[in-house]
Amino acid sequence: MNDLILHDLQTRYTCKRYDPNRKVPEEKLQILYEALRLTPSSINSQPWKFIVIASDNAKHRLYNTFTEPYHFNRQHVLDSTVTILFAHNPKYTLEDYAKVVEKMIQDGRLAPEKRDRALQSFRFARMHTDENGFNGHWTKAQLYLALGNAYHTLARLKVDSTALEGIDVKRVEEEFKGELNGFACHVALCVGYHHETDYNAKLPKSRLAHGSIFLHL
Ligand SMILES: Cc1cc2nc3c(=O)[nH]c(=O)nc-3n(C[C@H](O)[C@H](O)[C@H](O)COP(=O)(O)O)c2cc1C
Repeated sequence: MNDLILHDLQTRYTCKRYDPNRKVPEEKLQILYEALRLTPSSINSQPWKFIVIASDNAKHRLYNTFTEPYHFNRQHVLDSTVTILFAHNPKYTLEDYAKVVEKMIQDGRLAPEKRDRALQSFRFARMHTDENGFNGHWTKAQLYLALGNAYHTLARLKVDSTALEGIDVKRVEEEFKGELNGFACHVALCVGYHHETDYNAKLPKSRLAHGSIFLHL
């Protein structure tokens, strides 16, 4: 089991060229979506939304948002199977949290009489909220847990991916304004299978040495 974990993390890599003729089977995509849904977050806030760009029309809408210096990323959107827009709520409110608490009651996780007490956990969100109601730094941190979770899940599924912070945030948010409905999108994830000419597939993994990033006290 430990071997499997490290093998997954050593063999996954950032795909730099996708094979447009190889598509990820739907059942694997469904596992990915469920893994995203199961991602943990502070106070179980789940301040996110995942917009799956799968149709030709949606892919072209996203493709057309790319500007310099990010043009090198745009072909992935057409050649991969899907690109997921990872979006976070920049102004997560008590009303948003109330929906989570209701779902916890519905799922049998929380007794109905404990609703008010559970809502008090929102104070941990409030700590990260400024006078304008902005708590996007905090909600974006939660969203990146979902990104990490996606990476590991895809490695297990032997599916390739590319995280893209190299997007024109303003243009993406403008193009998908209706779907985002006030959420912010700073990162996307392309999911597919690499092309045999993908140079990155053959490069060795490179990371800082354990000794330079860990302190064992
Ligand atoms: C949040 C995030 C954003 C990234 N954005 C891009 C990107 O826009 N384009 C790209 O080609 N790679 C992008 N990468 C890939 C990183 O450069 C890559 O993960 C890193 O160099 C380690 O290489 P590996 O993923 O092959 O192990 C991104 C990675 C992360 C985690």
